[in-house]
Amino acid sequence: MAEQEYAYETDVRIAGDILGYLESHEQKSFLRFLTCGSVDDGKSTLIGRLLYDSKMIYEDQLASIESDSKKVGTQGEGLDLALLVDGLAAEREQGITIDVAYRFFSTEKRKFIVADTPGHEQYTRNMATGASTADVAIVLVDARHGVQVQTRRHSFIASLLGIRHVVLAVNKMDLLDFSQNRFNEIEEEYRSFAKDLGFSEITCIPMSALNGDNVTGRSDSSPWYKGQTLLEYLENVDVLSEKEGRPFRLPVQWVNRPNLDFRGFSGTVASGHVKPGEEIIVIPSGKRSRVKEIVTYDGNLDEAMPDQAITLVLEDEIDISRGDVICSTDGPAEQSDQFMTHILWMSEQEMFPGRQYLFKTGNKTVAGSITALKHTVNVNDLSEDAGKTLHLNEVGVCNISLIQPIAFDAYADNRKTGNFIIIDRLTNETVGVGMIDFSLRRADNVVWQDLEVGKAQRASQKHQKPAALWFTGLSGSGKSTIANLVEKKLYDMGRHTYILDGDNVRHGLNKDLGFTDADRVENIRRVSETAKLMLDAGLMVCVSFISPFRSERQIARSMMEDGEFIEVHVDTPLEVAEMRDVKGLYAKARAGEIKNFTGIDSPYEEPMNAEITINTVDMSAEQAAEKIVTWLAANGYLQEG
Ligand code: ADX
Repeated sequence: MAEQEYAYETDVRIAGDILGYLESHEQKSFLRFLTCGSVDDGKSTLIGRLLYDSKMIYEDQLASIESDSKKVGTQGEGLDLALLVDGLAAEREQGITIDVAYRFFSTEKRKFIVADTPGHEQYTRNMATGASTADVAIVLVDARHGVQVQTRRHSFIASLLGIRHVVLAVNKMDLLDFSQNRFNEIEEEYRSFAKDLGFSEITCIPMSALNGDNVTGRSDSSPWYKGQTLLEYLENVDVLSEKEGRPFRLPVQWVNRPNLDFRGFSGTVASGHVKPGEEIIVIPSGKRSRVKEIVTYDGNLDEAMPDQAITLVLEDEIDISRGDVICSTDGPAEQSDQFMTHILWMSEQEMFPGRQYLFKTGNKTVAGSITALKHTVNVNDLSEDAGKTLHLNEVGVCNISLIQPIAFDAYADNRKTGNFIIIDRLTNETVGVGMIDFSLRRADNVVWQDLEVGKAQRASQKHQKPAALWFTGLSGSGKSTIANLVEKKLYDMGRHTYILDGDNVRHGLNKDLGFTDADRVENIRRVSETAKLMLDAGLMVCVSFISPFRSERQIARSMMEDGEFIEVHVDTPLEVAEMRDVKGLYAKARAGEIKNFTGIDSPYEEPMNAEITINTVDMSAEQAAEKIVTWLAANGYLQEG
C-alpha cells in the first residue's frame, strides 16, 4: 500500500468513530521521551518515521511534505521525513534544529510526547529542559561513527536530569549492511561508558530510520537482532512502577477554600499512592492528620496515583501552605536549608557564588545563594575541574543555602521533589536548574542564639538610629574622601560610627579576593554581612566600595531593615575620574597592566533609585559631605534615639 493511503485510512477511522477513538485514547498510558542526537545522526528522520508509521500524519501535512521533499528534501524524489519535524522555516534553511519542540503521537497502546532537542553543546540547556520531564531518552548514534563526544554529553545530561531508561539507537545500519560486529562493538563501548551513569536499563537497537528498519517494523536485514523494535520498546517500557513504588508526595499547589465548609489541598501527586483513612505528615511543619477525601474534577477517588491532579481533604484543621509537601508517614520527605547539589547553568550571565537568587522547588520559592562551587563537571567527558563560577551550559557541584527550610527528597529518589530552578531576582530569568544530592546536615546543628541584649538596646544606649550609608561609584570617584568627611562630621556630633572602605577591607578580611565579577560579588557579600553586624551593634556605618553590580547592592538593601540602607551614588563620570587618576590606576588599566578595571573592561551598573546622588563635578568633597549630613538630619537619622 502506498504510504499516503495509510494516513488517509487513519483519518477516516478517526472521523468514523470519534467518540470511541477519544475514549480509547483516554485510557492509554502516557510516555514522555526525549530524542538526543543531531540532524547528522538522523534524529529528525527518526521522529518523522515514528510519526509517519504511527499514522498520525494528516493528509494536508503529508501533501506539504511531499512538495517540500522535492524542493528542499535530502532524499531526491523520495519522501524526506525529517521535514515533518523540522517545522521551522529557519531551521530548514540552516539544516539544524534549534529549540525544544514537543510533539504528540499515539498508537493503539500508548500516547507519546516527544521532546526533540538540538544536539550541539551550546544547546545543552535546551536538552536539559526537554530531559527534565522525560522518562526515556533515545540517544542516537550514526553507526559509521559510533559513540561520539556528543553521545557522552547527551547521556550525561539525561542521567543528570534523572532519566533512568535509555535506548541507544544505532542508526544508519543500512550503510554498513547491518553488520552485527559493528553493532556489538558500539553497544559494548556505550555500555562500558554508561555503567556509572545510574541508568536502570539500556536497550540498544540497530536501525535505519530512513528505511524504517527496526523502528516500527522488524527488519529483514538484521535477522541476528532478536530484541524489540523501537516502537515496541516505547509501547512497553515500564516507567510508572518506579514512581508508584515510592512513598506518597503531594506538593501543595494551592489551598482550595471556596467557602467556610470546605478546605482542601490541591496539587499533582508526585509519587506513591494515597487512600482515604491513611495518615499523612506535612513537611516542613511536621503536622499530622488523616485523609478524609480525595476530590477530583471527575468525582472522589478511592485511591490517588502519580501524576493525578487531586484535592486532599483532611480530618483535622491543620495549617498547610502552598509549597508544603503532604507525605505518607511511612518515609516522609526530609527538610533542610542547606544542600549539596548539581547545577546546570542556563544563563548567558555567569553564576556567582554568594549572589542571592530565588530557588523554586515544587511549588515553593525561597531566596538563597550558592555558597560554594566545589568543582565543575565537564559535560563531554565527565572530568572534574576547579572553578570559581559557572558559565552557560556548564555543570557544577555546588553547596546552596536557603533562607528557610524546604521539604525535599534526594533527586535520585524523587525527581519531582528533588529538583529546583534558579531565578535571577532582578530579571526574573531562569538562570539554572539544580538537582539535590543531599542535605548538608551541619546546617541542622547551627541554631540562632537568643541574646539578651539586642540591636535596639545597643542603639538606644548610643542614642542613635543605626544606618548604613552605602557609597557606590567608580574608582577615583571620591567615595572614600566623602565617606571619610561624613564620618568625621558624625563623630564630632558624638555619633558612634565606623567606616568600611574597599581598599582597607581588601587588605584583611577580603585579601583573598581579586577583581573578577565573581570575586566582586563575594567582596560585596562579605561587606554586606559585616555592615549588617555593625548595624546590629547599633552603629552608623559608612560603606565605601565600588560595588558595581545592582544585584549585590539590592541584596545588601534587602538584608537590612527598612530605612537602614542609604544608597549614596558618587556620580563622577568616567572621563573625570580617569582625568583625576589619583592612584594612577586608570593609566595602568589603559596600558593593559591591570585587567578587569571598572569602567574600562569591567562594568559599572549605575544606581536607579539612590537615596542621595552626589555630582562631584559641581561640588567639592566638603559640600558633598555637608549635603549628606543635611539629608540625614532631614530624614530623622540624627534625632537623639
Ligand atoms: S569592588 O568592585 O569589589 O566593590 P572595591 O571597592 O572593593 O571594588 O575595590 C576597589 C579599589 O581597588 C579601587 O578603588 C582601586 O584602588 C583598587 N583596584 C585595583 N584593581 C582594580 C580593578 N581591576 N578594578 C577596580 N578597582 C581596582
